[in-house]
Amino acid sequence: MLRNVPSPPASGLLSGHAAQLTTLKRHRVEQEHVSMLKSPVIRYRSYWDHRLWLGDPKLLQDIFQAERDGLVEKPEFPPFHKGQELNVFSEKTNHPLWRIVRKSVAQAFQANNMRRYHGHVVNVVGRLIDAVKAEGPDSAIDVSDIAQRESFDVIGMVGFGKDFQASRNIHNDAGQTFRLVGSFLVEAVKRNGNPLRQYSQSPDAVQGRLDFERINSIMNGLIEDNQAPGWLEENPHSIAGHILNLNDHKGKPLSRARLIQEYFIFFIAGSETTGHTIAWTLYFLAQHPQAMAKLEAELDAAGLLVTPERPQARAFTFADISKLRYLDCIIKEAMRLQPVAAMPLQRVAVQDFKLSNGLVVPAGVTIDLAQYTVMQDKSWGWKDGASFIPERWEEPDMEFHHIGSASGTDSSASEHPTLASDDLEIDAAQGGANKTRRYNPFGGGIRNCLGQQLARMNVPTAVAMFVANFHLQLTQEDASKSLEQLEALRGTLQPEAGIHMYCTERGKREE
Ligand code: HEM
Repeated sequence: MLRNVPSPPASGLLSGHAAQLTTLKRHRVEQEHVSMLKSPVIRYRSYWDHRLWLGDPKLLQDIFQAERDGLVEKPEFPPFHKGQELNVFSEKTNHPLWRIVRKSVAQAFQANNMRRYHGHVVNVVGRLIDAVKAEGPDSAIDVSDIAQRESFDVIGMVGFGKDFQASRNIHNDAGQTFRLVGSFLVEAVKRNGNPLRQYSQSPDAVQGRLDFERINSIMNGLIEDNQAPGWLEENPHSIAGHILNLNDHKGKPLSRARLIQEYFIFFIAGSETTGHTIAWTLYFLAQHPQAMAKLEAELDAAGLLVTPERPQARAFTFADISKLRYLDCIIKEAMRLQPVAAMPLQRVAVQDFKLSNGLVVPAGVTIDLAQYTVMQDKSWGWKDGASFIPERWEEPDMEFHHIGSASGTDSSASEHPTLASDDLEIDAAQGGANKTRRYNPFGGGIRNCLGQQLARMNVPTAVAMFVANFHLQLTQEDASKSLEQLEALRGTLQPEAGIHMYCTERGKREE
């Protein structure tokens, strides 16, 4: 079916077992396999599906370009229930409604809006810090649990004007709503593996359906709140404001069923991803005292670190995000090593087209984009790519793999992401003739992460404020585990059973 594509060797790890590529260990093995083959392209077949696995940054960019040109598209993600409406994440790229929703909601994430809403993030992190302080220094805190509470509340407040209060008290029942997101994702992964599960009467599957109905009803209530007189006029810049104000490609407002899915996807796509990113970053910091000391020094110099001499550090501001350069390096490195979107992104060829290496991809072939491999493999210039070295980001242009010796700066590359001119693509810098992007934690092309500006504001704020207030020490049990033992790939790359730390307040006299 595919022309010019090397087949995997007979003993190839992928032959015939592509459908089992669901655990991270497999991804790591894939990576070795690719280095071994010296080929970033693998062709395989999963039942009836002809697939292509690409682990080369240039080929990834080819696909993103092909998507801009309408030659490939993100396929429709199967709905949870038959007849259920899709949303901006699950709709295929060439559907007109995807374009309309994306263009409209992208405005909610523009920099001026992020500045406007930054106070919500500071308030949510602040109350979470108070809740952790109340636990005392001897309680082991699951930072992955509290970080998800934080990011869930941030999306509720920034996007929809609703305080779900999951972060006010880290044991409270209000957290149930945020837990529904996690259980939905687990159920969705199970459904993906077994489409017949939606008809199953097993208690687990029935609970999955009940949770889904409950989520729908919570989102329905949120829509009603947002449609109450005056709300939209006061919050036209929010995610809800943009969704409620748009008309579809037939000039009609979105149906209630579609609105529910459009609302829910922002909690699904935004809270686990952001929460796990915060948790992995704190994990790396706790494991690397030198990096922690450098960050402490940076926060101290900025007047943000709590110390015995400065028990009331100044409040974290939006402007701090771009000033704290080492914090930025730490987060980038954590996202390179533990990208929460670690599963290959998927696209489908809608017509025959040619990649830059001459390979012809026929229509109908599914393409897996292995951005995870591209962010670590030494073939793409990552020195000591499996190690946590935040300092590598002090070098300019680290996002790019330089081809040949050329290393000039690319005029299309921007450090501070903006909306591209067509308002579809966020952070459009793809490289140039001599270099190609090799760092894609937020995906790439016109389907890249719609909420990345919010994540880029939330993650540094949460990490900086947390470190400024606490000394962090992993429990002995978690410190003794390897990353492979700690992690699980369940839709996102997440801690399997949490990441537990003792959080001791800074600023006490005995320091
Ligand atoms: C660190 C945090 C985050 C990471 C690593 C992340 C990663 C990603 C990636 C890789 C994609 C592309 C998927 C693909 O191409 O198939 C994506 C899409 C998306 N993300 Fe994020 N995300 C994060 C946070 C957020 C937040 C905070 C929101 C919103 C509140 C959000 C909303 C979305 C949406 C709506 C899409 C689908 C966009 C489309 O298909 O047009 N994400 N994200």
